[in-house]
Amino acid sequence: MNHWGNRPLPIESDPERPPPIRRHHTARYYAHIVKDSLTTRISKFICSIFLSLLLILGVISFILWLSLRPHRPRFHIHDFSIPSLSQADGFQNAEISFNATARNANGHIGIFYDSMQGTVYYRDQNIGSKSLLYPFYQEPKNTTIIEDVLSGATLTVSSQRWMEFMNDRAQGTVVFRLDLTSTIRFKVSTWNTKRHRMHANCDVSVGADGLILAASKGRRCPVYFT
Ligand SMILES: *[C@@H]1O[C@H](CO)[C@@H](O)[C@H](O)[C@H]1NC(C)=O
Ligand SMILES: *[C@@H]1O[C@H](CO)[C@@H](O)[C@H](O)[C@H]1NC(C)=O
Repeated sequence: MNHWGNRPLPIESDPERPPPIRRHHTARYYAHIVKDSLTTRISKFICSIFLSLLLILGVISFILWLSLRPHRPRFHIHDFSIPSLSQADGFQNAEISFNATARNANGHIGIFYDSMQGTVYYRDQNIGSKSLLYPFYQEPKNTTIIEDVLSGATLTVSSQRWMEFMNDRAQGTVVFRLDLTSTIRFKVSTWNTKRHRMHANCDVSVGADGLILAASKGRRCPVYFT
């Protein structure tokens, strides 16, 4: 038997209509109401406990994720020079030397690097490239120095390109980009993440003497993954 079926809907006070008829309610009806509200209250209680647990779990995993999440390595450029820049025929014995650092800022996460590739660009043109380091493992909070020299076969500067350098030099600065690429994996405790292809882009300006300008020295190189 359904006690709700014939119940009139509450009607806003309307002078034209007679007030709704009150039905006679049986004891069974009231028992039903009490039972209903009890089950509702219990299920509300269980629901709120469940939701609170879910919230607490969410907060805990968010905090864990924040503290365990690997930070990408930080790269800085400290030195960059192309000494023969002051000579008009400098392209014949051109040499570029650089000194950059990669820091693993993570407190508990190590980083595996596959061999690193260093490429120098001038106006987005690749002018030289070289393999830099053997694959290595970088401990947490450690800094690795990446320094090398590009010359001869690893540096391809035509006389025409050298003319462009000379024109820029006459304006005061020549801008290069050192691109350091590697494939890295993070080591979280005993678990290694998958490999990520990483690029560090160091923009460097050199002065008329071919040495890095103070504004570029120590600059951070943006790191991104592809
Ligand atoms: C390269 O730069 C680092 C950091 O400034 C420095 O400790 C290191 O001596 C430099 N290496 C050379 C060869 O200058
Ligand atoms: C960084 O790691 C190298 C090689 O594992 C180690 O020789 C060097 O002492 C470490 N440096 C620091 C600051 O922990």
